[in-house]
Amino acid sequence: MLVILMIETIQWTDDTVVMIDQTRLPIEEKYLTCRSYQEVAEAIRSMVIRGAPAIGVAAAMGVALGVLHADEANLDREMESICDTLARTRPTAVNLFWAIERMKRLYGSLRGRPVAEIRRRMIGEAKLIREEDIEINRAIGRHGAPLVPAGRTVLTHCNAGALATAGYGTALGVIRAAVESGNRVDVFADETRPFLQGARLTVWELQHDGIPATLITDNMAGHFLHSGRIGCVVVGADRIAANGDVANKIGTYSVAVLAKENGVPFFVAAPISTLDFSLASGAQIPIEQRAAAEVTHVFGHPVAPPETAVENPAFDVTPARYVTAIITEKGVARAPYEQSLRDLVK
Ligand code: MRU
Repeated sequence: MLVILMIETIQWTDDTVVMIDQTRLPIEEKYLTCRSYQEVAEAIRSMVIRGAPAIGVAAAMGVALGVLHADEANLDREMESICDTLARTRPTAVNLFWAIERMKRLYGSLRGRPVAEIRRRMIGEAKLIREEDIEINRAIGRHGAPLVPAGRTVLTHCNAGALATAGYGTALGVIRAAVESGNRVDVFADETRPFLQGARLTVWELQHDGIPATLITDNMAGHFLHSGRIGCVVVGADRIAANGDVANKIGTYSVAVLAKENGVPFFVAAPISTLDFSLASGAQIPIEQRAAAEVTHVFGHPVAPPETAVENPAFDVTPARYVTAIITEKGVARAPYEQSLRDLVK
């Protein structure tokens, strides 16, 4: 049996927030120490830390760090601007807003308590969100592992692994749990242009655990889905609307359509905190637009003529009809998602 060693994505250490720098992987394994909430916000914006659940944990720790250093006399006002700054980092992953709301709720419940107690409890809550996330991912893995066809190849897109969470991962958590249960699967990882999370992060993580991984470029996914070689697709999510539409890394939609066309099950693995029941459909999910340089350049090297017009949406929305099942820590939801997702949170 394979023993999965935990990659440390983010930690609260000596009143600082330490995170593995995902912009440097796999070339260097470097850690960034954030000493202020502004530094945490910048780390989220620049994708030193990325992946919906990891962004949520970072935001919670950012709020705690902000409160720790805030002026006691203006705590309420500072709390507001800390939360606003963190909320303005990345718009699509709902876990960011979920985590900030949770920290705000706790803060509100501590009104009138001594500042030292407020600070201690806020730090404790942020650490708890991190620990809970790892447990949630293990539960997602337990629910998802039986869905993975035995001994087949699993295709994944982007990185929904330990690095995208506090540990273990959502989509890669399902794969890890399948492997831990004795299923000898291997993984095809889409490289995931433009930020290359698949090539740089997913392959690195899987190699770390000794799970066989093959890197393909994004435009090869259709070829392999048609070939009969892929047993299922498992991806993560940044936000899931009430009807089961899924926002995830740009390119996910194409993979989902090609999976359906070729009769390959398409699974989405995500925590309950990724569900956004306030949005009726994926059409209302805000899609982050990122810098043109991510498309025109690769690692600082230009790959297009100067002044090239660029579009760079970081996410797309996969309509629920392409999703075979949504795997959460509370169980597996299938269509019709309006009902099945609500049943999970009852
Ligand atoms: O832009 P990123 O790297 O933050 O995008 C990450 C993804 O799209 C992941 O698939 C998603 O956040 C799920 S992570 C468990």
